[in-house]
Parts: sequence; C-alpha cells; structure tokens
Amino acid sequence: MYKNLMELKDRVIVVTGGTGLLGKEFCRGLAEFGAEVIIGSTNKENGKLVSEELNAYLNEDKVSFNILDITSEKSIDEFILKTEEEFGKIDVLVNNAYPRNKKYGTKFEKVEFDSYSENVISHMGGYFLVTQKISKRMMERKYGVIANIASIYGVLGPNFSVYEGTEMTMPVEYSMIKGGIINYTRYLSTYLAPYNIRANCISPGGIFNHQPSEFVEKYNDKVPLGRMADPSDIVGTLVFLSSDASEYITGQNIMVDGGLSVW
Ligand SMILES: NC(=O)c1ccc[n+]([C@@H]2O[C@H](COP(=O)([O-])OP(=O)(O)OC[C@H]3O[C@@H](n4cnc5c(N)ncnc54)[C@H](O)[C@@H]3O)[C@@H](O)[C@H]2O)c1
Repeated sequence: MYKNLMELKDRVIVVTGGTGLLGKEFCRGLAEFGAEVIIGSTNKENGKLVSEELNAYLNEDKVSFNILDITSEKSIDEFILKTEEEFGKIDVLVNNAYPRNKKYGTKFEKVEFDSYSENVISHMGGYFLVTQKISKRMMERKYGVIANIASIYGVLGPNFSVYEGTEMTMPVEYSMIKGGIINYTRYLSTYLAPYNIRANCISPGGIFNHQPSEFVEKYNDKVPLGRMADPSDIVGTLVFLSSDASEYITGQNIMVDGGLSVW
C-alpha cells in the first residue's frame, strides 16, 4: 500500500535551528506527519516558546527542545545523550541551523579573513560536526536519514542586480558554504550507504521575509512562478526526503525555487 509512504510515525527527527524562519515550519510539518521532533538550537527561550506553540497547534506533545550549539563538540555530545535518553534514537537529522557573526553580509572587498573563517567554520564546520557525531550513532543502528538545507546559491552564481538600491548582498561565505554542503551531502551519501543511511539536500530559493520591495520585485521577475518562497513551500520536500517515499534516493540536491534555476 502506497498511501502511507510519507507517514513519519515513530520516527525521531532532530531539526537544528528549528526555531527559525524555515525551521519552525519544518518542525510543524514533520510533526503533522507523525514524527517526534526535537528542536536543537542555541536559542533556549525561543526553543521553549516554539515547541509550546507547535504542541498547542498540534493538540499533542510532538515537538520538544534540547539546547544545541552545532559549533561545540561538548554541546553536540550532550545533545545526543539527552535526546537518546528521552527518545531512544535519532532516525533523521535535518541540518538547518544558520550560524553567522555580526560582520556577515559585508560586501566582498571588505570581508576580513578572521570573520570569513569564523562564518565558514561555524556554518559549514557545524554541519560537518553534528552530522559526523549523529551519523556515528546511526551507523551503529544501521539506519538513518540526513537532510541538509543548502540554497540555490550553493549551485548558482548570484545575480547582484536584484540587490541594487538596497543594503542587501549575497555574502561570499554563503556561496562557498552552501556549495560545500551540497558536495558534503554527496560524500555522505556514498560513505554512509553501506550503513543504510541516506543523505540528501534541499536548495530553497529566497524566502519572503519582508525584504525591501525594490529587491522583492526584481527577484520575483526572475522566478518563473513569479514570487519568492514561503517557508511552507519547502516543507513537502523535507517530509518526502525524511520518509520512505524517497527510500531509493540518496546524494541528491532538490532545488525548491519556483523554477529560478531553470532559465
Ligand atoms: N531564509 C532564506 O531565504 C533561505 C533560503 C535558502 C536557504 N536557507 C537556509 O535555510 C536554513 C534556515 O534559514 P532561516 O532563514 O530559517 O534562518 P533563521 O536565522 O531564521 O534561523 C536560524 C536558526 O539557527 C539557529 N542557530 C544559529 N546558530 C546556531 C548554532 N551554532 N547551533 C544551533 N543552532 C543555531 C538559530 O537559533 C535559529 O533558530 C539555513 O541553513 C539557511 O541557509 C534560507
């Protein structure tokens, strides 16, 4: 029977950065499909608020919060211990956190090397570290699913004309980090396949978050579907990749961008 292929009942799913713009909707969607969802984030206050809000919406306790800093080995070890004590296992890891420092977003020619290094290590390095540690436990159990949240800018060169007339830019670190995460996913997919672990990537297009209208109009013009994404637009792909509906898919990067990358 195929109709329950997207069912996530009895799956324990960790969403790093689950309190953020995309993360919160990911948690809502995964929990609606039956998963036990654990938000792993540095933001304790928001973590509690978001899990309470989602549980009230779901009318049952499906979302919880454990503190996690993906840049700290100690924090990751403690997070895994606590989560496994509470839920017995981690079936699915969604790497979605978005660490960046105060200088992130500086124009290319002004980026200082120390700041560059800090952003690359915390974001790409954090995805490396948390995946290395959680996949080790998955390898022991011979089951796991990894979903990495990358970006269209890990695949495409930025079109800087959309930022004209605004303070916005596409940080150079972001292109390098997300490109690295997409190829890290390919590495994970072949390395971990013998352990029955799949690894895939989602590359969302720009998410509408009240950006300046000059930017939004120019961006929308470049999208065949004519608009920026809403966080809810990305949820279905994550549910699909987390579930048995994608059992024979690994190492792939799915562009969820309204067709931006097509022309
Ligand atoms: N917003 C977009 O337009 C967009 C587009 C494409 C891809 N993405 C990607 O989607 C993911 C989520 O982005 P978002 O816009 O929801 O970000 P956001 O800033 O709204 O949320 C980021 C979350 O990460 C958490 N976080 C930060 N540092 C952390 C750390 N060291 N350890 C654990 N958690 C940490 C924050 O507390 C927050 O919950 C990111 O990987 C981002 O690159 C976003």
